[in-house]
Amino acid sequence: METAAELAQMNSALTGRRAAGDRIVLVPTMGNLHHGHLSLLRKARDYGDYVVATIFVNPFQFGENEDFDSYPRTLKTDLQRLEAMGCDLVFVPKIKDVYPRGPEHATQIEVPDLSSILCGQQRPGFFRGVATVVNILFNMVRPDAAVFGEKDYQQLLVIRRMVDDLHMTIEILVGETVRERDGLAMSSRNNYLTPAERELAPMIFKQLQKVRAELRAGEGDFKAVCKRATDALEAAGFKPDYFEVRRAQDLNIPTSIDDELRILAAAWLGKARLIDNLAA
Ligand code: PAF
Repeated sequence: METAAELAQMNSALTGRRAAGDRIVLVPTMGNLHHGHLSLLRKARDYGDYVVATIFVNPFQFGENEDFDSYPRTLKTDLQRLEAMGCDLVFVPKIKDVYPRGPEHATQIEVPDLSSILCGQQRPGFFRGVATVVNILFNMVRPDAAVFGEKDYQQLLVIRRMVDDLHMTIEILVGETVRERDGLAMSSRNNYLTPAERELAPMIFKQLQKVRAELRAGEGDFKAVCKRATDALEAAGFKPDYFEVRRAQDLNIPTSIDDELRILAAAWLGKARLIDNLAA
């Protein structure tokens, strides 16, 4: 596995691959890799001929009072894990190379509508930061395909919309959510949980499952089921940001019971903001 910190170094590794017609697959990450990321790597490995991972903690997607400074940075272990997973190239760019004029002066990508609801409402500017950096990474790596996790369902839809609107020719592959044995979706931010909070955390998944079971049993009052789930989480000590049933394709409010539905939740537990979702 090759590690590149400079664009020129990455390009010299990729030029021959492109010329050989290899299918290059990108897995963008912010590092602190866990089994969730590794399953994205596996997907990339299965699909592509040459797998590139990026590790870049993107300052532009963190709000002023968010955890950019304290976000876990574990480069050494990340590189070992990527190598063990058969990654071919890791690109670890510096902030000044990604944003030569500084993040706040960079050309920005705004995906309207989708970016301002749910997580976007709670974290203004977050999806602008994600779409902007993913677009930059796409331009730097120029992959044939890229893999994103379904745990970040709204992010996945934002990226898909960007690719569609900008007529990019990059295929977006989806990695299923990887869970701990007790159901908690794997996330770097699970590290912020105290042992007591960690025991409680799978309750989000349990509530999602409960809502799914109710919908499957014919419950059509989405507001009422979500309110019951929100109340249960609150009573247990979570601070829910939202718990919603939405249309799977665009996260709009469902208009008919025939819509394909997604159940999505975000809640604070101590210092960790946990998100999760399920197909209804
Ligand atoms: O999901 C993430 O880790 C990040 O949002 C991403 C896609 C790597 C962009 O910084």
